[in-house]
Amino acid sequence: MASAEEEEEEEDNSSSKMGTTTNSSSSKNNTQASGATLLVEPATDNKDTTAPGTSAGKVSETAKLGKGTCKDNDDDPDRTSKDYYFDSYAHHAIHEEMLKDEVRTRTYEMAIMQNKHLFQEKIVLDVGCGTGILSMFAAQAGAKQVYAIDCSTIIEQAREIVKINGLAEKITLIQGKVEEIELPDGLTHVDIIISEWMGYFLLYESMLNTVLYARDKWLVPNGIIFPDKAVMYLTGVEDGNVKRDRFDFWDDVYGFDMTPIKQIAISEPVVDVVDAKSLVTDSVPILHLDILTCTEADLEFASNFKLTAQKNDYVHGLVAYFECAFTQIHKPIGFSTAPFARYTHWKQTILYLEEPLTIFAGETVFGEISCKPNKQNNRDLDIGLTINCKGRYSEVKDKKARFRLR
Ligand SMILES: C[S@@+](CC[C@H](N)C(=O)[O-])C[C@H]1O[C@@H](n2cnc3c(N)ncnc32)[C@H](O)[C@@H]1O
Repeated sequence: MASAEEEEEEEDNSSSKMGTTTNSSSSKNNTQASGATLLVEPATDNKDTTAPGTSAGKVSETAKLGKGTCKDNDDDPDRTSKDYYFDSYAHHAIHEEMLKDEVRTRTYEMAIMQNKHLFQEKIVLDVGCGTGILSMFAAQAGAKQVYAIDCSTIIEQAREIVKINGLAEKITLIQGKVEEIELPDGLTHVDIIISEWMGYFLLYESMLNTVLYARDKWLVPNGIIFPDKAVMYLTGVEDGNVKRDRFDFWDDVYGFDMTPIKQIAISEPVVDVVDAKSLVTDSVPILHLDILTCTEADLEFASNFKLTAQKNDYVHGLVAYFECAFTQIHKPIGFSTAPFARYTHWKQTILYLEEPLTIFAGETVFGEISCKPNKQNNRDLDIGLTINCKGRYSEVKDKKARFRLR
C-alpha cells in the first residue's frame, strides 16, 4: 500500500519500552501530515510501515465536561458518555484535536478536492458537521448546496466560520439531531453524504447509526458516501510494563490489596498508542463494513479470529485498529489507525488479558470477538472475547473476558 506522502517521517512512538506509549497531550497534538493512501488493503504483515494512518475518536475526556443541548438522556443515574455526548462536541478543544489530526482531515480533503467532478452542482449532506470543515471542502469542490447538520452548539461557531469564509450562500447549517429534523425547502434527496463518524474501536459513539439513518432517508439511489468502507483488525501485543503499571499496581497499594479495582480496570479497554515493535502476531480483519449497504444489525457482530505468532514472546493483550476508505472515486484513498501507521487521535484500543500467554513463532491464538452497544448506554460498547491457545507453554481453552468501552 503506497502512502501518498511516504517521504514524511513517521512519528517515533518507540521512545517507550512499553507496548503503549504514554498518553500525553503532546502526542495528541503532534499529528502528522496526510497518511492518506491510494488504497486500503487488509494489513497482514506487521512490518508494513507504509500502511496509512487515520481519524478522530471523539468522546474524549474533554467530552465528559459540562452540560448542553441535545442530550440523549438527562435522567439516567448511570451517567456515562451517553449523557455528555453532544456537550462534548460543544467545546472547541475536541474539534481542535480532530482538525489537527492531519491524517484524518487531509484524507477527507484529498478525497473531496481531488474529485471535484463528483461534487459539481451536487446536493451534499454533511452528517455531524462540527466546525463545518467537510462542508467547506465540499463547497470549494463545487457543490451546488451543502446541508450541514449538527446537534451540538459548535454549530454556532460553524455558522460564523462559514460566513467569514464567504460560503454562507453555499452551506446551509441546521442545528438538530439528524434523526429528528427535515431538510429545508421540502428537500427529500441528496446526491452525496459526507461524514466523519468513526469512534474509538471504530464503533464507539454509535454515530454510524446516524449516517445509516441519513443514507436510508435522503441518499439518492447509487448516491455517494464519503467514506464508504471500513475494516477493523485485531493483533496481539507484548505489553508487560503497561499491564504491570495499570493493573498489577492494584495488587499491592502501600501494602493493601486493592484487587477489586483491578478487576474493574482490566475490563475497560485502553485507548492509547501501541508501539508497532511490540506486536507479536499478524493482524487479521474482524469486521468489514460497506457503508453503502450495511444495516444497524451489522454493527453488532461476533467474529472468529486466528492470530499467528511472528516471534517467541508474551501476549498481554489484543489490539484493535481500523482502516477507512473512499472507494467511489477514480483512485481510491484511505487511512489506517494501525500501530504501524501514522499517529491519529484514534490511537489503538487494547484489550488486556488477565493472564499473559507465552507463545512461540508459528503458534496460534484463536477465538471469538464480539461487540454490541451497551443496553443502558447505547453509545458505549460491550466487547466479548473468547480465547484459545494450545502452545508449548500456554494452554488456554475457551477463556472468556468481557469489556465495556465507556
Ligand atoms: C466526529 S465529529 C466530526 C465533526 C466534523 N465533521 C469534522 O470532521 O471535524 C462528529 C459531529 O457529529 C455530531 N453528531 C453526532 N451525532 C449526531 C446526530 N445524531 N445528529 C446531529 N449531529 C450529530 C457531533 O455533535 C459532532 O460535532
